[in-house]
Amino acid sequence: MSLRFLTPQPADPLLAMIAAFAQDPRPHRIDLSVGVYRDEAGRTPVLQAVKEAEQRLVEAQASKSYLGPEGDHAFVEALVPTVFGTAPGVFVEGLQTPGGTGALRVAAELLALGGQGRTVWLGLPTWSNHAPVLRAAGLALRTFPQVDVASQAFDLPATLAALEQARAGDVLVLQACCHNPTGIDPEPHEWRQVAECAARRGLIVLLDMAYQGLGEGLEEDATLLREFVARVPEVLVAYSCNKNFALYRDRVGAFFIASHSATCSTNARSNALALVRAMWSMPPDHGAAVVRTILHDPRLEALWRRELDAMRDRIAAVRGALGTHHAAPALSLGAIAGQKGMFATLPLSAEVITRLRGDHGVYLAPGGRANLAGLPLGAVDRFVAALEDVLACQAA
Ligand SMILES: Cc1ncc(COP(=O)(O)O)c(C=O)c1O
Repeated sequence: MSLRFLTPQPADPLLAMIAAFAQDPRPHRIDLSVGVYRDEAGRTPVLQAVKEAEQRLVEAQASKSYLGPEGDHAFVEALVPTVFGTAPGVFVEGLQTPGGTGALRVAAELLALGGQGRTVWLGLPTWSNHAPVLRAAGLALRTFPQVDVASQAFDLPATLAALEQARAGDVLVLQACCHNPTGIDPEPHEWRQVAECAARRGLIVLLDMAYQGLGEGLEEDATLLREFVARVPEVLVAYSCNKNFALYRDRVGAFFIASHSATCSTNARSNALALVRAMWSMPPDHGAAVVRTILHDPRLEALWRRELDAMRDRIAAVRGALGTHHAAPALSLGAIAGQKGMFATLPLSAEVITRLRGDHGVYLAPGGRANLAGLPLGAVDRFVAALEDVLACQAA
């Protein structure tokens, strides 16, 4: 069929929102739509640790020759303790990918290899790109309700009920921390039950970890991942350094296989490398070299950790400030204080979201997702007043 018969695709609604915000002349407009960290002044700065590492790379780099499909091996190795801890009895193999998205795509392609009849179980709501990436590899998806936005709670019964229908060899996709779009992570007793159920049912678990360190801390945010890796024999991890190192456009990520069998991990990695060769051949070098330089230097690593702490503290301060407000009986902002990471999903109708934008210049992502890192502390009262106004209009 000729390309002339292709039908035009709609623009990504989030990208349309970004364009609309850029054209909005109102000086006090608030952008909570884009999923990047912003400081109190609304900037997404390059971290000082990154600047210093880049400086060193420019001076020291002797060659730009190819690295191979695995990318920067020392970068991957340097991440392992941060992500997995010591993990006794677990064999971890990894490779560098273009961002967490690249890692998810390798995972999806690997699962599609020999996975005829395999079903991927995806809890909703979730990051809007999960389903497209998994489907692009030809995987069959089944969705289930995992977070109840109305009550702002992780839906353990629905999650366990879905897993009871799954068959051995099926895949469960979970976010390891700082759930996008809700900020609602399971409690320790809940994720333990999910991990036990996944292991008992013979499932492979794909953990998406895109925000380590932006919830409670680097170690704390790895608890769910480590619990799964200890209990479930085959875990795949799609990891992003783009948020916690603020390297977004440099596209830094890694794909890991963590198995209780050394042969399984090495075989899976060799297949992943063959898949990479047919997709992007080799990942871009610069961002991973920056992360490796930081993690190999105790002073730079300490500086990065302080900068990460500062990002997390700002997000926590915004959450705390919002949590003290009660915008309307139907909309408890109190729950936001205890949630994790950059995002919260407000249980608002599409009409209310449109009014917030039109009447008050407050931009939320479709579905009511708010990037709280985009809210200056000084704008919290204005944001709450806007919410109160639109909700009062709706009630009237
Ligand atoms: C849950 C989740 N996973 C993965 C990603 C992919 O991030 P990147 O490809 O920029 O590393 C994102 C980005 O927003 C995300 O929110």
